[in-house]
Amino acid sequence: MSFSAGVDVGSTQTKAIVINEAREIVGRALIDTGANVIQAAENAYTQALEDGGIREEEVEYVIGTGYGRYKVTFGNTQVTEISCHARGAAHMFPATRTVLDMGGQDTKAIRVGPNGEIIDFCMNDKCAAGTGRFLGAAASALAIPLPDLGSRAMQAERPVRISTTCTVFAESEVLSWLGKGKKIEDILMGVHQSIAKRSIGLLRRVGIEDQVTFTGGVAKNIGMIYALQDNLGIQLNVSDDSHFMGALGAALFAMDAIVNSRAPLPATEA
Ligand SMILES: Nc1ncnc2c1ncn2[C@@H]1O[C@H](COP(=O)(O)OP(=O)(O)OP(=O)(O)O)[C@@H](O)[C@H]1O
Ligand SMILES: [Mg+2]
Repeated sequence: MSFSAGVDVGSTQTKAIVINEAREIVGRALIDTGANVIQAAENAYTQALEDGGIREEEVEYVIGTGYGRYKVTFGNTQVTEISCHARGAAHMFPATRTVLDMGGQDTKAIRVGPNGEIIDFCMNDKCAAGTGRFLGAAASALAIPLPDLGSRAMQAERPVRISTTCTVFAESEVLSWLGKGKKIEDILMGVHQSIAKRSIGLLRRVGIEDQVTFTGGVAKNIGMIYALQDNLGIQLNVSDDSHFMGALGAALFAMDAIVNSRAPLPATEA
């Protein structure tokens, strides 16, 4: 039995996935990327091996992806995160035709074909508005732990309209709403709605075709799932492993490399 691995070194968090030949996830790890990107890649990989009880020698092929993919120094090759998120999403939800990856720094809209191949993609340029960082800025302004943001937003009764589209100004707008006596929950849902609308703008640029699969760390946020579905009017595919979709896609490409490198079996005589 051999294994393959994918390591997705994102701008904010590093994810590693190990899969077996049946393409099932056997180990996973998630850590903050931090300042030492090479170390983050190594640590995530080591932790994913430990999680699966797998020795490094048993892993035949490793692919690095994400913004820090060239820092996966132990990897055999690199594949872009656009390809990896599309591949992971299509594997997990085979009817996927559109992927929305919301990460810490970037939001990407990807349209995929029946086999997870990329037809078109589009990402937010330069600006972190509409990404996890915008949410992080709001979370710190309101002193709410990131994992609680979505559930707090879901308690909103009358969401405010957030007008700024800039992360730098998000904090001051949030504080000014607080100053006007608005409930934290209503401000939070306003923030989620504003990010959802921006992301849907990106999706429209590539064309929204059902089914839509939501990936990246922000897919852990129930408030964002709600705001996107509310504005799109359709259900999104979201899995518990959505955060790992890029790493999973990389591991799947790595398994293809292993399978393709094996000589075809000789035809057996009847
Ligand atoms: N448990 C959680 N609840 C809510 N949000 C979360 C949770 N975990 C992570 N996030 C969000 O996900 C973001 C990180 O997502 P992800 O790991 O996909 O980003 P990345 O790959 O590092 O970034 P990028 O793809 O932009 O380079 C964080 O900034 C945070 O907003
Ligand atoms: Mg990412």
